[in-house]
Amino acid sequence: MNKPSAASKTPASGIDPGLPVHVAVIMDGNGRWARQRGMPRVAGHRKGADAVRTLIRACAKRNIAYLTLFAFSSENWKRPKPEVQRLMELFVSALDKDVKELHSNNVRFRVIGDRSGLDEKIVQKIGNGELLTKDNDGLQLNVAINYGGKWDLLQACRSIAGRVSEGTLAASSIQIDDIESGLSTAGMPEPDLFIRTGGEHRISNFLMWQLAYTELYFTDVLWPDFDEAELELALTSFSGRQRRFGRTGEQLEAN
Ligand code: IPE
Ligand code: IPE
Ligand code: MG
Repeated sequence: MNKPSAASKTPASGIDPGLPVHVAVIMDGNGRWARQRGMPRVAGHRKGADAVRTLIRACAKRNIAYLTLFAFSSENWKRPKPEVQRLMELFVSALDKDVKELHSNNVRFRVIGDRSGLDEKIVQKIGNGELLTKDNDGLQLNVAINYGGKWDLLQACRSIAGRVSEGTLAASSIQIDDIESGLSTAGMPEPDLFIRTGGEHRISNFLMWQLAYTELYFTDVLWPDFDEAELELALTSFSGRQRRFGRTGEQLEAN
């Protein structure tokens, strides 16, 4: 698989961006999908889990190297307790059932987010899944659970502050790389394509630093309805973008 090295963290520039190396997705709209059908919100989450499986398969099939999925934000604890409970149960059942299948498909599974806020049983299962799949070099799958972009940056700041206070790093020498190496996505290329379903046009505290130069794609389709054809639409939109990274269009065309 065409897996880029950590050195190629900034996406390659070019007129035709082709296929994204890293796709990041805010899977939004489960609740509305269910309500439209007179069903409880949790029915939308169950259906949304099926859409996750479809997307993982579709990305692996296309040799997309990295997929990062926002499953539960650091703000989602504010939801009604039974809904949070049901989401956690869905994670447990996915960790029990789906991780083995991911492994047999050569997918490397990782969770990004604050594990200290998660139930011990879930943390254990996450660790088992990560260990089982750690040598897989197919699709690199990150699932963001109890994740917040601000939390991620805070972790990086803490790690830098630790190095400064122990005297191994001078404050005046702090580089962008020092921040990136403290993020939960350290060593991975930044997302090339961001997809948000469900019609909202916001980042909702997802990968804030990492999305600095990502192409953004928003669709009104609700997450449970996001299928392979919808992925294809997002990829087609991406392939038509001109990624200039500060340069002019003429400069790119001259190359
Ligand atoms: C996204 O769907 C799933 C999670 C946040 C866990 P929502 O549950 O936010 O669905 P809507 O936005 O209420 O329709
Ligand atoms: C973002 O969706 C988080 C996930 C999809 C996990 P939300 O539905 O929680 O976002 P807001 O609150 O509408 O911004
Ligand atoms: Mg929502």
